[in-house]
Amino acid sequence: MSSVSSVPVSLAPGQTSRLRVVFVGHVDHGKSTLIGRIFFDTNSLPDGKVEQIQKACAEEGMDFEYAFLLDALLEEQEQNITIDTTQIQFKTAKRPYVIIDAPGHKEFLKNMITGAASADAAVLLIAANEGVQEQSRRHGYLLSLLGIKQVVVAVNKMDLVGYSQEIFDAVQTEYLAFLARIGVEARAFVPISARNGVNVAGRTPEVGAPNPMLWYTGPTVLEMLDTFEPPAPLVAMPLRLPIQDVYRFDDRRLLVGRIESGTLKVGDALVFSPNNKTSVVASIENWSGPHRSQALAGESVAITLKEQIFVQRGHIASHEETAPIESNRFKARLFWMGKRPLTVGQTYKLKLATQELDAEVVSVERVIDASTLETVTGERPFINRNDVAEVTLQTRGALVMDNHDRNPFMGRFVIVDERQVAGGGIIHGGVYSDRTKVKSANIYWSEGNVLPRNRTLRNGHRGAVVWLTGLSGSGKSTIARQIERELFNAGRQVYVLDGDNIRHGLNSNLGFAPEDRVENIRRVAEVATLMADAGLIVVTAFISPYLQDRRRAREIVLEGGHEFAEIYVDAPLAVCEARDVKGLYKRARAGEIEEFTGISAPYEAPENPELRVQTELLTLEESVSAVLEYVVPRVRAVSEDDIAI
Ligand code: ADX
Repeated sequence: MSSVSSVPVSLAPGQTSRLRVVFVGHVDHGKSTLIGRIFFDTNSLPDGKVEQIQKACAEEGMDFEYAFLLDALLEEQEQNITIDTTQIQFKTAKRPYVIIDAPGHKEFLKNMITGAASADAAVLLIAANEGVQEQSRRHGYLLSLLGIKQVVVAVNKMDLVGYSQEIFDAVQTEYLAFLARIGVEARAFVPISARNGVNVAGRTPEVGAPNPMLWYTGPTVLEMLDTFEPPAPLVAMPLRLPIQDVYRFDDRRLLVGRIESGTLKVGDALVFSPNNKTSVVASIENWSGPHRSQALAGESVAITLKEQIFVQRGHIASHEETAPIESNRFKARLFWMGKRPLTVGQTYKLKLATQELDAEVVSVERVIDASTLETVTGERPFINRNDVAEVTLQTRGALVMDNHDRNPFMGRFVIVDERQVAGGGIIHGGVYSDRTKVKSANIYWSEGNVLPRNRTLRNGHRGAVVWLTGLSGSGKSTIARQIERELFNAGRQVYVLDGDNIRHGLNSNLGFAPEDRVENIRRVAEVATLMADAGLIVVTAFISPYLQDRRRAREIVLEGGHEFAEIYVDAPLAVCEARDVKGLYKRARAGEIEEFTGISAPYEAPENPELRVQTELLTLEESVSAVLEYVVPRVRAVSEDDIAI
């Protein structure tokens, strides 16, 4: 028996001949037995191990089980603390494999999500006698979340169902349909008996024994694994060198970090994200030993640059033509394991490579119950423990990242809550920009003027003016305040201008005579434009009774380059008068207030507003939703100019 060590073999940088396999399945579906059987069938155990365990079983009067082989291996590893128990190996004729999960590892999920472990392929176990269970679905979803594309489904315990083709077919049909829904494609379904050794390595329990599943002509589990592709070698990927530290020796700067992917050569022009400075590699140094002309993924290096530029921990070096994405807003699939729910509007610490930034949960697009895969109550502002969700996150500064399918290392992040890793996710859908063409790829960090689009990039939305007009008591202020609350909760920069903060201050010298109202609205329009310039969504709540004044306000805002939305908050005079929140209608009727709009002064209803909300027909919530539905898509930072500058 060849003695394949269970010690992880350390590979030369860039070498990727091992295939990392994760075994997932319900605890009782025979995972340990399958792994034990694979060790046995591939002679991957130390000499004498099997005999030793068989003997121990006989002495205890127990039946020998293949699962014991795994237990024994794990036990042995635990005694030797230098061995990483999450990595055990076996070898087929074709290549070595690393099993990156062993049953019973509580940290598995966390490791997978945080990237402490990652898999190239998966064996998903389902017991034929129990069929597709909640856990099977959960595991399938996990694979899709982690982006594992090479999957073989082993339908185990076929011996317990009389090796029935019908039962196998039924499991296959049900699970195939499920996997299709979540975008996972199983390369094969293999009916097996791990205990009896059918279709794991060989087709029959023993050489010469009859094949109990002659009806199955597909590959065995190991044959299937041998068809899987090793991951693209890290060295072949675009260069990513996250800077861990910068050491200064006199006027020399040594930039230190680990090359996560790609190849680095002396003479390479590097761009450092996010500040987008470029310089050329002058030397690649070792702490000891000679300087080199190149270094590869997996190596820790110290480099010097020809031109001294500002670089600090957290910056990511890459080649210009294959630079990562940088943005402060991105979409991710996230798995949450925190004690407290992850909540929209809350800020968390986000870690990606050597970057650490505050990140706010802007929105939760979808929450999925990992077992049923049902979408949980549509949109929901929080994510519970063990939920999987699609979210939009926004960081305080620019974050350098990759889409997960382009670079797993830079496409994965963790979220820290209460000082613990409480969740992790993968990034998708980010837009790459060509840094070689657009020198100022990241104007956000440029040293020039702060442009509106810089603010847009930071805020994740553009400035705008939402102009509410309507009679006193129609509901403008109430709606404005609620809009403000909701936009604020969603992480937007928003501010309400209304009589309270304008007529008491800036416009305290104005009354309600027509010329005063004209001036009131003119000033409001100017102030709102300035605030929109500052990147805010400004919601104004003024009667603004004159058509011409509102037209002028629109012109002022549009001239300022901002979106203007006129919202007619419409309620019949009788309704406003009946509400009479401030008791002013009563006083106006009594002649105590002159030129009161609707009573003794005109209100010119909008002819062509962007939106009309009839507050006597709608609830506050409905009115607010109507406005938000109109406004939110229009302020979104969507154009190329806005995000991929
Ligand atoms: S507007 O003339 O510029 O459109 P604005 O929205 O600032 O008016 O202020 C309207 C608020 O001022 C009303 O909601 C009411 O509380 C108060 N108010 C006091 N006197 C009058 C008046 N004569 N006409 C209208 N609103 C008045």
